[in-house]
Amino acid sequence: MYKYVLIFLLLVAAASCRKPKATECNDEIALSRLSDFRVGVAISYPDLLTNPIYNAIALKQFNSFTPENIFKPGYLHPALNEFNWADADTLVAICTKNNARIHGHTLIWHQQLPDWINDFQGTAEEWDQLMKTHIQTVMQHFKGKVAGWDVVNEAFNEDGTLRNSIWRQKIGTSYLEKAFRYAHEADPNALLFYNDYNLESNVIKRNVVINYLNDLRNRGVKVDGIGLQMHISLGNPDESQIAGALQQVVANQYQLHLSEIDISVNLLNNNPNPDAATFDRQANLLAKIAGLYKAIPVQYKYGITFWGVSDGNSWIRPYYNRQDYPLLYDDNYHPKPAYCKLKEVL
Ligand code: G3I
Repeated sequence: MYKYVLIFLLLVAAASCRKPKATECNDEIALSRLSDFRVGVAISYPDLLTNPIYNAIALKQFNSFTPENIFKPGYLHPALNEFNWADADTLVAICTKNNARIHGHTLIWHQQLPDWINDFQGTAEEWDQLMKTHIQTVMQHFKGKVAGWDVVNEAFNEDGTLRNSIWRQKIGTSYLEKAFRYAHEADPNALLFYNDYNLESNVIKRNVVINYLNDLRNRGVKVDGIGLQMHISLGNPDESQIAGALQQVVANQYQLHLSEIDISVNLLNNNPNPDAATFDRQANLLAKIAGLYKAIPVQYKYGITFWGVSDGNSWIRPYYNRQDYPLLYDDNYHPKPAYCKLKEVL
């Protein structure tokens, strides 16, 4: 009798040992299949073409692609009368074949401009014409293929003043309004976004941006949505700050794109080898963000986009010269707790 009880207990113990741990998961079912809103990723074009593992994950898991760099003027518009469509067209063809939406990033920004724009000598009218030509040539080229555009990126400072970018210096403060008007003329069906960082944490900046965009709308300018970039870190901002930001954007009737999500776990560079508990905190924060996003009314859900596939692809390491692990996949392209937790919420 005791022998049978012992065998039974051993079998139960063996079965429980085989039970997967809560944090274990696999990526056989795509994120995009589980979600009723778009789940996107910033695409590194060189990685897409040269790294088969990256390529397979990107095309399988996500259904919205934001070109991380190759739609920026420095790549698309190398000289006054010259546009370089080849790489961008290839990327668009790959996306279209995979039924992924393309989000255009970005038309007017102060960074990643070609030298010829930075060095351009001209009157305010000539600068205005330059900006118009850039926006309209690019948008018309991709008309019908790009769903939405970051028309203006990062135009405000942290204190809510207008950034003294080259566009503002050369055209004046009206450049924002003009950019949105030119964009609407070029492709009336495209969704037009203003995109910026720290809007989720900095209430002063967010209030200024929303008031500014509301004012544009009141003057008949089409502005469809706001991109909250969400380059955030553990604990900053916290869940309630993020909830407040989402709520305010939606209350003002803008489509909401969480447009460049990454969650730093080594912001102060004092935790270069994070432990499992740190990755669980990262996962829990992401799950809360996804839950908040899921709860907004459907008409405002443009989607969420991660700013890279794996930790090894993230802009943070080269830019800040520190180890960090901000994304869904680890350096070996294995899904992290953040990926698994996200899946539970979608
Ligand atoms: O393409 C050149 C390559 O030819 C050269 O050999 C190499 C040497 O450093 O540089 C390559 O260009 C780099 C480019 O990324 C492509 O890898 C640039 O130096 C580098 O500055 C550029 O960084 C990009 C950054 O924007 C530019 O400010 C990041 O990849 C990109 O993730 C980042 O994205 C921005 C968003 O557009 C706007 N919001 C913030 C976000 C993070 O900074």
